[in-house]
Amino acid sequence: MRMIDVIEKKRNGEELTKEEIDFFVAGYTNGEIPDYQVSALAMAIYFQDMTKDESVYLTQAMVASGDQVDLSDVAGIKVDKHSTGGVGDTTTLILAPLVASVGVPIAKMSGRGLGHTGGTIDKLESVEGFQVELDGDTFNKLVNQNNIAVVGQSGNLTPADKKLYGLRDVTATVDSIPLIASSIMSKKMASGADAIVLDVKTGSGAFMKDVEGAKELAQAMVQIGNGAGRETVAVISDMNQPLGFAVGNALEMREAIDTLKGNGPKDIEELCLTLGSHMVYLSQQADSIEEAREKLKEAIESGKAVETMKTFLAAQGGDASVVDDPSKLPTTAYTFEVEATMDGYVSEIVADEIGIAASMLGAGRLTKESDIDLAVGVVLNKKIGDKVKKGESLVTIHSNQQDVSEVSEKMRQSIQLTKNETQAPSLIYHVITE
Ligand code: URA
Ligand code: CA
Repeated sequence: MRMIDVIEKKRNGEELTKEEIDFFVAGYTNGEIPDYQVSALAMAIYFQDMTKDESVYLTQAMVASGDQVDLSDVAGIKVDKHSTGGVGDTTTLILAPLVASVGVPIAKMSGRGLGHTGGTIDKLESVEGFQVELDGDTFNKLVNQNNIAVVGQSGNLTPADKKLYGLRDVTATVDSIPLIASSIMSKKMASGADAIVLDVKTGSGAFMKDVEGAKELAQAMVQIGNGAGRETVAVISDMNQPLGFAVGNALEMREAIDTLKGNGPKDIEELCLTLGSHMVYLSQQADSIEEAREKLKEAIESGKAVETMKTFLAAQGGDASVVDDPSKLPTTAYTFEVEATMDGYVSEIVADEIGIAASMLGAGRLTKESDIDLAVGVVLNKKIGDKVKKGESLVTIHSNQQDVSEVSEKMRQSIQLTKNETQAPSLIYHVITE
């Protein structure tokens, strides 16, 4: 087989076979096929698209390019959740113990990640003593015992995706639906889950700015998952403003604990109940989505969900007493309020800018090596649609620096007020199952 023939075939709009896709993925991973040929193929895919079968083959070939997590020693139907990324997204910290508390085995591999705030692992490390490095046997044992364990990323998962994503980044071929969908799904499938629930974000703070684009991406990912034998559901949710109130690592941990106790922001709770009920249903812990949702609400009301958080933190060496007393989480030396300059309503909160403000305070990593300050961040006191009075606080800045004038200015510019009453945006747009 010759790579030039594969490129030409795709350029002409024909469908590639499984053998052709396996050939280019394996050849690219082991260095036999050069970047320039794969760049040409990526551009041909960008213009000609891929069929459902091609997308499934590409995903499976990328999964096969590296290690795969073996969860066969863990009993039950393991369900994983993935979010396409947003600002202040605390859902994983809540969902993992919440669904585990009603019997769903959560064997989660998570990243530190670059971004406005840290990844789930960083947020968990705001709990004193919490260990994210577990060997495979301990990890499986904890999931069997408690239905939940979270481990830091290790091993050589999907090297083909790493290489291809890097190449796409510099050849203007990132925003191709089949390439994005196969990239995300390959990582999820290599992490070993039997079923996958996707949270596809849409809005100004998301990768997909409009609902139609998000729907297209969601459909492509659901088709890949189902086509590869992993039942997959996608929820399309709003990211026109940050989720919940808190943006920052320890601040989000605190928000997660509040939500598990039933005292969290309503948007986060609703999103967690929606994503969680699909996870519970896919894991066959309920006979319908409605029954699953009732089970989750009951777990929050009875305290079972928050108890599972304690068990989980303690099992990995963490100080579980932070759940009863969140004031033990890291805090900052200073807090500052950003006040409303007029009476009115909040009409816009630019999610991206709020994220950038949090990273300016030190909540996010700029490079893989940089340290982050787990305590810093911002907490919104108002969301879109809320009424405000002049002088009321719109947002609280948690900082270890005494001068936050730049961050305050950024917050003032990213929260718009109007005289007229405004509507809060919808939270859930669609649920895609095929
Ligand atoms: N995120 C990924 O992991 N891959 C893509 O291709 C785009 C976003
Ligand atoms: Ca939040």
